[in-house]
Amino acid sequence: MTGSRTFKIAAIPADGVGREVVAAGREVLDALAAGSGGAFAFDWHEFGWGCEYYARTGRMMAEDGLAVLTDFDAIYFGAVGWPGVPDHISLWGLRLAICQNFDQWANVRPVRFLPGVRSPLRRADVTDLDWVVVRENSEGEYAGLGGRNLSGRGPGREVAVQSALFTEFGCERIMRYAFELARTRTRRKVSSVTKSNAQQFGMVLWDDVFRRVARDYPDVETESVLVDAMAAKFALRPEDLSVVVASNLHADILSDLGSALAGSLGLAASANLNPERRYPSMFEPVHGSAPDIAGQGLANPIGAVGSAAMMLDHLGLPGPAARIHAAIEATTAAGVLTRDVGGTAATGDVTKALIGAL
Ligand SMILES: NC(=O)c1ccc[n+]([C@@H]2O[C@H](COP(=O)([O-])OP(=O)(O)OC[C@H]3O[C@@H](n4cnc5c(N)ncnc54)[C@H](O)[C@@H]3O)[C@@H](O)[C@H]2O)c1
Repeated sequence: MTGSRTFKIAAIPADGVGREVVAAGREVLDALAAGSGGAFAFDWHEFGWGCEYYARTGRMMAEDGLAVLTDFDAIYFGAVGWPGVPDHISLWGLRLAICQNFDQWANVRPVRFLPGVRSPLRRADVTDLDWVVVRENSEGEYAGLGGRNLSGRGPGREVAVQSALFTEFGCERIMRYAFELARTRTRRKVSSVTKSNAQQFGMVLWDDVFRRVARDYPDVETESVLVDAMAAKFALRPEDLSVVVASNLHADILSDLGSALAGSLGLAASANLNPERRYPSMFEPVHGSAPDIAGQGLANPIGAVGSAAMMLDHLGLPGPAARIHAAIEATTAAGVLTRDVGGTAATGDVTKALIGAL
């Protein structure tokens, strides 16, 4: 053993099921650390930011929140959003504030099919399916550019402009990330998602950069697919996918589709990475705060626990990360499943089974 490492982690459970699944993820990580023979440990700091905090203070996070977070090795996030606070306020005030200020420009969202979980795809029973959505996470359609005004037109005639920002720099870095990731996978292929037939500026730049970057990776197969056709391909020919690189909005939608095809939104993990490591990266399940099931012990913790495994990989602990993935597979294979994937287990039952399987 080469000395003990303690990682300082900021936990931000935020709202709804975010609280339940972050608690589950922390239990799993602490159990893993306890069994590591002192090789690693987590120093948790929990922040009560989110919609309740907003109701009390008028802010989604503390005024110095970003400065405080800068000192952490990573951020473990739940989900943000609750009825009563407009979603654009809660999202921009917390999650997007962190992603954008910490330049977490790569959002990696693996689509994993698990034993014992039924996919709505018939072919999932007979085909090995496994792909990763790489989402541009710093600009595109979520750049926050635009405005609303009446331009003197009067009531009922308000106008709104929402612009998408595409920079050559932003496109290139996410595409290179996708190509490098493809080189680590069995199938070396990158599928670029576009809409350049209708969006003749931003998406044409996206395509130009993709073609240019692809020339540096002659060993990686490529294709460029319109987003509408890619949605169909997710359902009809998913075995042809390995790494899918897409803009902020396109990848957001496609990754939810991917997780639904794998069986449930509650299964999907994600990492918001600042690959240069100038800022902490943030790990969170793909799903939202699920107000419809929050507080009832029904939330599937696997998306959050899988995100914890991605955090371990990022922290340089690939062995323990692999143990979490194996525990997830053992748990679903044993039929310990929450309601969203056809079972009757509670969040706590799944968490216990995961810890038992570590
Ligand atoms: N990253 C985020 O913080 C994030 C992402 C998406 C939505 N949101 C916010 O979450 C709120 C609810 O949004 P929504 O309903 O569109 O999306 P959602 O992901 O919260 O829920 C969609 C459906 O998936 C189910 N679901 C989600 N997570 C689950 C889990 N862990 N286990 C079992 N089932 C689960 C829900 O019950 C619901 O039926 C909104 O305020 C929205 O803005 C936040």
